[in-house]
Amino acid sequence: MTTTIAVSGKGGSGKTTIASMIVRALLEHPGAGPILCIDADPNACLALALGVPPGTTVAEIREQARAKAPNAVGVSRVHQVEYGFQQAITEANGFDLVTMGRPEGPSCYCAVNNLLRRLLDEMSAKYRFVVIDNEAGMEHLSRRTTNHVDLLCIVSEPTAVGALTAQRILELAGTLPIVVKEIGVLWNKTNGDDLALDALDVLARVPEDAAVLQASRRGDNVFALVDDSPAYRTVRTLVEKISNSKHQIPNKSKIQNSNDQNHGRGSARFEV
Ligand SMILES: Nc1ncnc2c1ncn2[C@@H]1O[C@H](COP(=O)(O)OP(=O)(O)O)[C@@H](O)[C@H]1O
Ligand SMILES: [Mg+2]
Repeated sequence: MTTTIAVSGKGGSGKTTIASMIVRALLEHPGAGPILCIDADPNACLALALGVPPGTTVAEIREQARAKAPNAVGVSRVHQVEYGFQQAITEANGFDLVTMGRPEGPSCYCAVNNLLRRLLDEMSAKYRFVVIDNEAGMEHLSRRTTNHVDLLCIVSEPTAVGALTAQRILELAGTLPIVVKEIGVLWNKTNGDDLALDALDVLARVPEDAAVLQASRRGDNVFALVDDSPAYRTVRTLVEKISNSKHQIPNKSKIQNSNDQNHGRGSARFEV
């Protein structure tokens, strides 16, 4: 069974940093693989953070398929998209990466998109863990109809703006067409001055970490980060809790949809 962890938050809050740390921590956890990483932020940086070449994006496959002459419809186009999709999967040591690239646009529900979505859904189901790096608008998740999210981790800096954005993402999550079983805020770059945010459970408080900032300045990937980085240690503890509780993730009471505002109550069991 697949466990899907989606990361969302304001630009610059640390989504890609946290998502890549989650991947590294999962890889250290016995039996956690295989892992599929999905970069669903149009400002795609997950490949860099994971130290793999960026590869073709799903958006590029979509554009190539659309640019084909009209007589290229039918089976040949399906095969072309399927082949292109396979090319968009970057295989790395212990994980695969798919980069979504530019979003589809508001009115784009064409056959190519449906096919790409189906391919991604089918592919995701084959992995033990799926980690998705989303932008705050969660456009990618808003297009999904299957492959529910087990944990939505809202990354937020402990500032008034960060708290406001986290609250908005929480509200947005309630309108997604998929089930989100648990939601919580991960306060990032903390100095012990976190704000209280009523409607959200706290997953973790990840400290501001000079080693993380230095690694980012040098362009180092997450695997080059020192093992005792305080930020990474905190994420690793969170991942251990998620991994240990994965068999107990319930299907029922915490399920949310657009009619259910009872967001993520109970996810404090993951708190670090
Ligand atoms: N806990 C942390 N301590 C110090 N710097 C951090 C921490 N988390 C993220 N950063 C830095 O903040 C910047 C933005 O992080 P990034 O993960 O790219 O954000 P996002 O993906 O949300 O846009 C990067 O320079 C990153 O190194
Ligand atoms: Mg990012």
